[in-house]
Amino acid sequence: MTQENAINLYNLLPRTDRRTSPRANCNIPRNLAKVNGKISLQFLTLVMANIQFLKEDKLAFASDGANLRLKAIENGIDIYKFWGKMTNCGGYGQCGTCIVEITEGMEHTNDRTEVEQRKLKNKPASYRLACQTIVHGNISVNTKPQ
Ligand code: FES
Repeated sequence: MTQENAINLYNLLPRTDRRTSPRANCNIPRNLAKVNGKISLQFLTLVMANIQFLKEDKLAFASDGANLRLKAIENGIDIYKFWGKMTNCGGYGQCGTCIVEITEGMEHTNDRTEVEQRKLKNKPASYRLACQTIVHGNISVNTKPQ
């Protein structure tokens, strides 16, 4: 991939992906070196992930480091039950209404956060709070698992 292609691909990413993964996201220059007064940029390979929403039978694409809740919303996936729609905290890990089940690819997500450990302590290990889940590879998601 050429540098120009990498820049073009990065510019195509939704703003949510850019914001949620400033470092791990694709094509953000890792090495900025000033050589002879010129800035040299070294780009990484583009890493994409597929998020399969099972109940909705929908496949979403995400860049490495994307937030699962934001990707669901962006793709029209409803992760909240009736009560959660009215009372959710907007993704701050306070309400516990964005529970999803990762049926495949749990190894491609971040570890449970402290908030999740508290909110999900009596739930199966495959349950996550979508707003706290960062996607690093292909996963399958079951929304509203309870
Ligand atoms: S949206 Fe409130 S905990 Fe995830």
